[in-house]
Amino acid sequence: MHSTSSNSPNIILIGFMGSGKSSIGKILASMLNTKFIDLDEYILDTTGAPSINSLFAHLGEAEFRKIELKAFLEANTEQGVVIATGGGTLVSDASLDLDLKNAHIIYLETDFDICKSRAGKNNRRPLFKDPDKAEELYSKRKPLYEKIATITILCDGSPAKIIAEKIRSSLPNS
Ligand code: S3P
Repeated sequence: MHSTSSNSPNIILIGFMGSGKSSIGKILASMLNTKFIDLDEYILDTTGAPSINSLFAHLGEAEFRKIELKAFLEANTEQGVVIATGGGTLVSDASLDLDLKNAHIIYLETDFDICKSRAGKNNRRPLFKDPDKAEELYSKRKPLYEKIATITILCDGSPAKIIAEKIRSSLPNS
């Protein structure tokens, strides 16, 4: 069983929209018998906004990033939990300097085409409305995800359970 004693590192999932952070995170947390926090859900719960689209539309991206960073810092005060970030949470300007030493930062490396086939198929993501712009953003962020990750998991479109298993066996002391 995963220990949630004090100082137990959080497991923070990062990666582009559609890389499977939420579905993989939920399964991983249940495998490790620990709590799962989905940051987009957390933001909706704490702001009372009906959707991320509406937050973007009413406040703009810059304000969303402030709310998102605050939500992340709150969530990250927990110990030994799994956090699925949003695709921009840790690669936006204000978050790049965060000190996340006591955490496993897991980059779900996923081809753009796979992300597009998942995230591009509904209208829930304000930054995926234009696939060409989304691809530019993907190229810009990829090196940033690589830089901040402590563990990179190659996700070739395998089912979430298989990826969660890969993450579990890549954790120290697994
Ligand atoms: C965003 C990703 C979304 C959400 C918001 C912005 C981004 O989360 O936070 O639409 O900047 O990449 P997912 O990565 O869970 O889709």
